[in-house]
Amino acid sequence: MARKGIVTVVGAGFYGSTTAQRLAEYDIFSKVVLTDIRDGWAEGLALDLNQSRPIEGFETEVVGKTTTTDGQGYEAIAGSDIVVITAGLPRKPGMSRMDLLGVNGGIVRGVAENVAKHAPNAVIIVVSNPLDEMTTMAQIASGFPHARVIGQAGMLDTARFSYFVAEKLGVPVGSVKTLTLGSHGDTMVPVPSACTVDGKPLAGLLDADTIEQLVVRTRGGGAEVVSLLKSGSAYYAPSAAAARMAKAVADDNGQVMPVCAWVDGQFGIESVYLGVEAEIGAGGVKRVVERDLTETELTALREAAASVKAKAADVANL
Ligand code: 2OP
Repeated sequence: MARKGIVTVVGAGFYGSTTAQRLAEYDIFSKVVLTDIRDGWAEGLALDLNQSRPIEGFETEVVGKTTTTDGQGYEAIAGSDIVVITAGLPRKPGMSRMDLLGVNGGIVRGVAENVAKHAPNAVIIVVSNPLDEMTTMAQIASGFPHARVIGQAGMLDTARFSYFVAEKLGVPVGSVKTLTLGSHGDTMVPVPSACTVDGKPLAGLLDADTIEQLVVRTRGGGAEVVSLLKSGSAYYAPSAAAARMAKAVADDNGQVMPVCAWVDGQFGIESVYLGVEAEIGAGGVKRVVERDLTETELTALREAAASVKAKAADVANL
């Protein structure tokens, strides 16, 4: 089997290390690079992952590298086709993702500058929170074209919505299709009109109140995990979503996914990073996909855009 391409994961916390594990276990990349600022941490995890290769049967090499805030160690990411930025602090119980804006803004700025220096042709996938703002930051700091900087959120939020629907109806998760757009925060826009179970509209299977309860639970899906864990935030579903996005870039097959992408004119929305559906491929976003939305959904999407835009000036100054 031909393995090709280098994918880097910056930040080896639970989110980053599980993303690196999933990417390595796909066995499609020649190399997965994992970096972290804790001395020896990424090297240790890489060694551990490599020792799992004979058991799991994958040949992708995993390389760990300690980096410093002044950019030492980043030479290890040279040649990366894809860089997943997970660096930054997770939420604590009671915190909103937006509470992380100041601290994570500085971290993501520094990482994106180093990515631009050492992997100038990479597609950046941002997962750090607050997601829409950190994706904006990574584009500003890297100077990359908007299409090459995308954020992970819609895949995760959609998966949460699908799981809650499947659980409620007692059906296989594979029979459920859902969609969320908008921000990865309070202005997340679950789209019930696009939801089906075995091809049948969700609205015919659950009453409006029950769907609304699932929508509310989806919007708070990350906070629900944070409050149970009490320290740290979710990483199994988030890493699955981020790794699938990286795979879509590597496969270059134009797969349509809900992601945080630069929206410029679609849905009547201008110049903002926002959760939308997009075709993903080697250059990042090939095309933002528009679909028919109900008036309520469209209004909510435009409100989400306005709220992310209102923060854009703050982001530029971080
Ligand atoms: C979440 O929603 C980490 O933002 C991520 O769990």
